[in-house]
Amino acid sequence: MDSDSRPRVFATRSLPGGALEALTGELELEVWPGPGAPAPEVLARAVAGAAGLLCLLTDRVDAPLLASCPELRVVSSCSVGVDHVDLAVATRRGIPVGHTPGVLTETTADLAFSLLMAAARRIPEADRFVREGHWTPARSWEPDLMLGRDVYGSTLGVIGLGAIGRAVARRAQGFGMRVLGWNRTPGKAPPGVEQVPLDALLRQSAFVSVHVARTDETIGLLGPRELAFLPSGAVLVNTARGGIVDEVALVEALRSGRLAGAGLDVYEQEPLPPDSPLLAAPGLVLAPHIGSASVATRTRMAELSIANLRAGLAGERLPHCANPEVYDAHSEEGQRARKSRGETTRAPR
Ligand code: GLV
Repeated sequence: MDSDSRPRVFATRSLPGGALEALTGELELEVWPGPGAPAPEVLARAVAGAAGLLCLLTDRVDAPLLASCPELRVVSSCSVGVDHVDLAVATRRGIPVGHTPGVLTETTADLAFSLLMAAARRIPEADRFVREGHWTPARSWEPDLMLGRDVYGSTLGVIGLGAIGRAVARRAQGFGMRVLGWNRTPGKAPPGVEQVPLDALLRQSAFVSVHVARTDETIGLLGPRELAFLPSGAVLVNTARGGIVDEVALVEALRSGRLAGAGLDVYEQEPLPPDSPLLAAPGLVLAPHIGSASVATRTRMAELSIANLRAGLAGERLPHCANPEVYDAHSEEGQRARKSRGETTRAPR
């Protein structure tokens, strides 16, 4: 293929398993070498003139960035969440945005359950106790050493009954738990899950796991008022998105001993700033946003994001599109945008 005719694509990071290598012949591919995400101005420079952007959830694909790349035909994010992409602007511009739903459901549910159990049974604290040499002959087995909370047979409240929330509920059923569920738009409850109002869920759950998307309605969903409903000694887990649980209120509830523990994989600010009060909160298990981080799942996510990218560059419908309304051939905004770029009036298929 004549190299000049190859579409230009910028990838903001290499993907696991050398997934991008297969693309080098067919694309003029530039891969940000890292470490970390490119700074916004670097991203804007790199993507100007590109036909495709392969990005991660750490890259802000906002209105100014989209305005600076008139040639862009597809954004493919190697993530299920797309709250880092301005979907409304992309749709107006007629740009389909790809994401990777489905493949990370079980892996993220595994992590939520791991955090729940680690917080309930104080695993990080126990690990430190052994490593730091506190497990001495004088303290070889003590009746009150590291007493935690029973998971088996207790009650779990699942906030958000989408795919991941349901997968966590299934795990809980294997642990003989009573499972309560709450969803912003109440629908048919999954088998074995009692759907209840949010306040009732919080009042009755010894464990709560958060699985709603971050939207204007869910930011601060669990603030001081809601955390105060939790029974004394409860454990809260959030693997969804930062900002849904009020971090100041969470630290306060842990410090006061009202919550026995918590597990977080997501934060208001990522990475967590070194002076974050979360770092000193008792009973809190922290993970660095690794919900989907298994070899198999990240490999599958890389494959899906490449399939989305290829389809978008070929003008075909993305296998997994986060803004399917972009394909609405009757969208006047989409048609105007395509016309202004000198394209035919046909929406991307
Ligand atoms: C992870 O948080 C994702 O959205 O893929």
